[in-house]
Amino acid sequence: MRTEQPKMIYLKDYQAPDYLIDETHLTFELFEDHTLVHAQLVMRRNPARGAGLPPLVLDGQELELLSLSLDGKTLEEGDYQLSDSHLSLQPAGDSFVIDSSVRIHPESNTALEGLYKSGSMFCTQCEAEGFRKITYYLDRPDVMSKFTTTVSAEQHKYPVLLSNGNPIASGPEDGGRHWATWEDPFMKPAYLFALVAGDLWAIEDTFETMSQREVALRIYVEPENIDKCQHAMDSLKKSMRWDEEVYGREYDLDIFMIVAVNDFNMGAMENKGLNIFNSSCVLAKADTATDAAHQRVEGVVAHEYFHNWSGNRVTCRDWFQLSLKEGFTVYRDAEFSADMNSRTVKRIEDVAYLRTHQFAEDAGPMAHAVRPDSFIEISNFYTLTVYEKGSEVVRMLHTLLGNEGFRKGSDLYFERHDGQAVTCDDFIKAMEDANGADFTQFKRWYSQAGTPRLQVSEAYDAAAKTYTLTFRQSCPPTPGQTEKLPFVIPVELGLLGAQGQALTLKLAGEGAARGESTVIAVTEAEQSFTFVDVAEQPLPSLLRGLSAPVKLSFPYNRDQLMFLMQHDADGFNRWEAGQQLSVQVLQEVIGQHQSGAALALDQRLVTAFETLLTDDSLDQAMVAEMLSLPSEAYLTEISEVADVDAIHTAREFARNELATALYAPLWRRYQQNREVSRNSEYVAQAEHFARRSLQNIALSYLMLTGKPEVLAACLEQYDACDNMTERLTALAVLVNSGFEAEKAKALAAFAEHFKDNPLVMDQWFSVQAASALPGGLGRVKALMEHPAFTLKNPNKVRALIGAFAGQNLVNFHSADGSGYRFLADLVITLNGFNPQIASRQLAPLTRWRKYDASRQALMKAELERILASGELSSDVYEVVSKSLA
Ligand code: TRP
Ligand code: ZN
Repeated sequence: MRTEQPKMIYLKDYQAPDYLIDETHLTFELFEDHTLVHAQLVMRRNPARGAGLPPLVLDGQELELLSLSLDGKTLEEGDYQLSDSHLSLQPAGDSFVIDSSVRIHPESNTALEGLYKSGSMFCTQCEAEGFRKITYYLDRPDVMSKFTTTVSAEQHKYPVLLSNGNPIASGPEDGGRHWATWEDPFMKPAYLFALVAGDLWAIEDTFETMSQREVALRIYVEPENIDKCQHAMDSLKKSMRWDEEVYGREYDLDIFMIVAVNDFNMGAMENKGLNIFNSSCVLAKADTATDAAHQRVEGVVAHEYFHNWSGNRVTCRDWFQLSLKEGFTVYRDAEFSADMNSRTVKRIEDVAYLRTHQFAEDAGPMAHAVRPDSFIEISNFYTLTVYEKGSEVVRMLHTLLGNEGFRKGSDLYFERHDGQAVTCDDFIKAMEDANGADFTQFKRWYSQAGTPRLQVSEAYDAAAKTYTLTFRQSCPPTPGQTEKLPFVIPVELGLLGAQGQALTLKLAGEGAARGESTVIAVTEAEQSFTFVDVAEQPLPSLLRGLSAPVKLSFPYNRDQLMFLMQHDADGFNRWEAGQQLSVQVLQEVIGQHQSGAALALDQRLVTAFETLLTDDSLDQAMVAEMLSLPSEAYLTEISEVADVDAIHTAREFARNELATALYAPLWRRYQQNREVSRNSEYVAQAEHFARRSLQNIALSYLMLTGKPEVLAACLEQYDACDNMTERLTALAVLVNSGFEAEKAKALAAFAEHFKDNPLVMDQWFSVQAASALPGGLGRVKALMEHPAFTLKNPNKVRALIGAFAGQNLVNFHSADGSGYRFLADLVITLNGFNPQIASRQLAPLTRWRKYDASRQALMKAELERILASGELSSDVYEVVSKSLA
C-alpha cells in the first residue's frame, strides 16, 4: 500500500543513472515461512555523469534489512538511510562493492510481483518494478548487469531450481536441501531476472540454429499438465525459425526454458532464457483448449521468444519507452501468426480488437500517447495503446518503407544498439538512416494521443477522366493535449470499376502507373490526390488492411457496400464493407427502437449474408468473420452516447431475423461441417480453425430459432465432439438459450467432468458470466461462491468478473447501478491484495463518458466511493483519480 503521496513521474525529467552495476551475485535461501536474499553488487560511478560522488540511492520495498556492508566493511545504523522505498548511503570511491542480506515473504505475497508462490512453486515477476521487492537495487532498465544466481531449497519439495542463463554448478546441502547456480553471460536489466523452484516436469526438445548451434528447449509444468505442452513446443520451434528467416535473428544461449504458472497477473514474461508464462498461454490440447486458445498459445510463445531481441538484447532506456519493445514485438508476433495461419483473418481479428478496445481507451480519461510523457504507476501503462497501437505504428513504418527497407532498418537497429538500453527515437533513427528517410513528422504517432479522424470525399470529372480524393484529418483533444498537429497517415487504396474490376492507378504528375493497389501518405490537415486516365466513375476501396489506426469516413451507401463486399480485390476490405453495412443497418434499428417504431431489418443485409452462405468457393473462415455482426462493445465505441439496451435489442433482433430468413443455408453449412468434424480427428491448423468457426457461428444463429432439430444437433455436438472448440460453443449456445433443463444438465456435466482443470473451469465461468439473459449479476454472485472460484487467482477474476463487466453489457450497465456497485466493491477488495488486477478490472467504470446522464452519475459515484475507501494502491489511485478529473 501507498504510504507516501503518489508522485507523477515525467519523461522530461529523465537522467542517466549516477552509478552502474557491472556484476550482480545473488543467493536465495528459500524456506516455507521466509526467504533470505543475499546480494553482492559490483558497482562504479557512471562515467557519463561526470565527476563527484553523489549519494547512492537503491530501490527497495517490503524488505527487512538484515545486514549491509560496503567494500567488506559492515555498515551500522547511521551509516545509511532507510525509507519505505529506498536505501541511501555515501560511497567513498569510484568503484565499490555492496553486500546486503534481506528477509522477504514470498509465501504471503498476494500481489504476484517480485518473488511469490503459485501453488507449491516459487516464481518471480520483476517487470516493471518488481525486482525492488526482492533486494536493494538500481531497479531501472538502463542499469544493465551480469547476473549470477544461486538458489537453495528443500530437495524433496523443490527438485527443480532455475534461473536465467546457463546452469554452472549444483549440489546437495545439509538438512535435505540442495542448491544450483546459474550464470547469465548477457548484460540485462533487473526486470528480466527470473527464478523458479518447484516440483516440475519438463518436455524437452532441441533446435538447431542458423549457425548450426544446438539449443536445448524445455517446457516446465506441474506433473498433471505434462500432456498439454506439445503445442507450445511446436510454436516455439516455429518462432525460432521464423525470427531467423524474417529478421535474421538467432537465439543466443545454449538453453531456452518456459515455465507455466497458474497465478500470474498478465499473459507471460520474457525473462532472459527463462520465460515465465500464465499457464493459460502454454497449455493446449484438443479436449481442453479451444481453437482460439491454441492460437493464443502460439502467439504468446512467439511474442515472448521474439523479445529476446526486441526487448532483451536491445532493451528500453526508461519505462516511457515501453512501446519500443512491446509495440515492435506485438507487430512481430502478429506477422508471425499471419504467416502461420490466415493472414486476412488474423488482421480482421486484430483490427476488430483495436477498434473496439484501444479506440475506447484513446477516447477515455486514461488516454495517453504510445510513448506516454508522465505516469504515477508504470503497471497502469501496459495498455492497449502501448501494445496494440504501438504495433500499428511499426506496421505503418513497414507500409511506408516496404519489406526490404523495413528489414534494412531493423538490421541496423539491432546491430547498432545490441547490448544497449535505448529509446523510440533510436528505433526511428535506425529506420531513417538505413533508408535515407525523414520520419520527423511521422514521430507524432509516438507523442500525440487520440484516434485521428480521416474524412474522405471524391470528385469525378468524366470529361477530363480524372478522379480526385480529398482527405481531411483531425484528432480530438485528449487529457493534457488540446491541439494536435497533422499525422502522417498511410492510406492503402484501390479503385473499382462498375464491373468490379480493379482500375489501374496513375497519379497526376507521375510518369508511371502504380498498379492496382497503392499507398499514399496523407500528411496535411487537408490534402487532395488526383488520379488520371480514369475511364469511368470508380468506387474507392480505402485504408485497405486498416493501413493506419484512424477512423475513416466516406459516404458509402448500402448498395455500394454490398458491391465492395463482393468485388473488392482486398479480402480485408470485403470484410470491412460488410461491417460498415451491418453498422448502418443496426444503427437504423437502434433508431427505430429509440423512437418506439416497429423494428424492421434492411433486407439487403439478409441478401448479402445469403450470398456468403451459398458460395462454397469462399474461404470458410472469411465467411464466418463476415457473418459476425459488430459486437455490442464496438457499437458502443462508435456511438456518441451509447444506448445499451437499444444496442442489445437491435443486435439481437437482427440476429433473430437473419437466423429465420437464412435457416436453410445455415443448416446446410452447419451439417456439412459438423459431418467433417464428426469423422475426423482434431487438428490445430488454419483450415480446420476455419471449418469449425463457420460451423460454430452457424450453430449460434440456428439455435435462436429454438427448433427441436437444432437443439438435438447442439446436444449431439456437445456430447459427441472430441474437442473443446465444439464443446464450448455447444455449451455457450445452450447457456444463452431458453432450454433450461438441457442447460442445467450440460453445465453440471461440464463442471463435474472438468472440475480438476482450472483453465477449463475458467471457460465455464466465462460463458455464464457473458450470458446476456436477465439476472446476470445474480448468476455471477452465485458463481463466486462456487468451490472452483477464488479472487486470489487472476485468471478466475478475469474469467468471471472481467467477462461480466467487459462482455455482458446489458447486465453490467443495468439501469439501477447494481453492476457498477458490484464492480466497485470488488475493486476495493482486490486493491487490498493485488493492486495490478484491481486496477485492470476498473477499466469498464472509466468509460462513463459514453453513457446517459443517469448512468454517468451512478458510475462516477462508484469511482468516488473507491477513492474514499481508504488506503489505495498507487495503481488504483491513478486510474480512479484520472477518471474523475
Ligand atoms: N513484458 C510482458 C509481455 O508483454 C508483460 C508483463 C508480463 C507484465 N507480466 C507483467 C507487465 C506484469 C507488468 C506486470 O510480454
Ligand atoms: Zn511483450
